[in-house]
Amino acid sequence: MRKKRRRVKEDVFSLMRPIRPCDPHPDMAEKKMLRLDRLLHESGFGTRRDIKKWLKDGAVSVNGMAVLDHGLKIDPERDHVTVFEEAIQYEPYRYIMVHKPQGVITATRDAKEAVVLDLIPPEWVREGLAPVGRLDKDTTGLVLLTDDGHLAHRLTAPRYEVEKIYAVRVARPLQESDRLAFQKGLPIGGGEVAKPARLEIDPREPRWALVALREGKMHQVKRMFETVGTSVLRLHRLSIGPLVLEETLPEGSARLLRRSEVVRLYEAAGYCLPYFLAADKAMDVESASSVHDSDDPTDIFDKTIAAFLKRLPHLV
Ligand code: URA
Repeated sequence: MRKKRRRVKEDVFSLMRPIRPCDPHPDMAEKKMLRLDRLLHESGFGTRRDIKKWLKDGAVSVNGMAVLDHGLKIDPERDHVTVFEEAIQYEPYRYIMVHKPQGVITATRDAKEAVVLDLIPPEWVREGLAPVGRLDKDTTGLVLLTDDGHLAHRLTAPRYEVEKIYAVRVARPLQESDRLAFQKGLPIGGGEVAKPARLEIDPREPRWALVALREGKMHQVKRMFETVGTSVLRLHRLSIGPLVLEETLPEGSARLLRRSEVVRLYEAAGYCLPYFLAADKAMDVESASSVHDSDDPTDIFDKTIAAFLKRLPHLV
């Protein structure tokens, strides 16, 4: 009886849990109507010349009616557009996970060096696609590419405190005093101070640790370890907020994010979900394998430690 009463109480509390407030994404706040030719082009459906021809040939339909007018205004949220009877899935933005290897720079283009955009198939490139934050040339791991500039801003601006987790190998064994120094915050030179950060030392191999930062100053991890008197030999980013680098994604490879992953990033950034993330607008096959189920950051940190310790031998 007592057990039953407790269950009822828990259920009532779960119903009363406050819904987290969210801000509307600025580009989604007012309805965007798009020209038909632009919608087709941005859906990656053929070249401009193909699109022109298909329209002329009557191969494009809107809500079941063939349309010849390439300038027709379309409501991407409601209108059903097909080309040769194949439905068009309009993607307002693109989100790509890249496993950056050493030697590649986090930029969109460079005259001499390989850049992260070179690691994706050319057909995934769109205007405005850029890395979210930067990794040094010798740092490996997770880079997120997107043309969703508002989301990118919130994932990187210190004000929104989205946590990034790095695996790090340093030159000397780390100890409790290092963990405490990171926990307090550290001067990192040039008059800059790093905010408190979490340092989790691998008990079996204390030259390895995980560091969790909520800001991204230039070379921040390296500068923090310099302050405590050691140097970084290897640096690898494991996660950005709820997005975790997929373990099976080989170095130098990339994949499109799943809808569930983009949803979690929107939640971490405090944005309300726009229509294109609604459950019935599947961007791809639903799977949450690289997203942790809880949005509690401690949980993410703990799970990342467990996964990371298993993988250590592959990283050394
Ligand atoms: N901190 C660094 O020092 N380098 C990186 O690439 C990322 C964080």
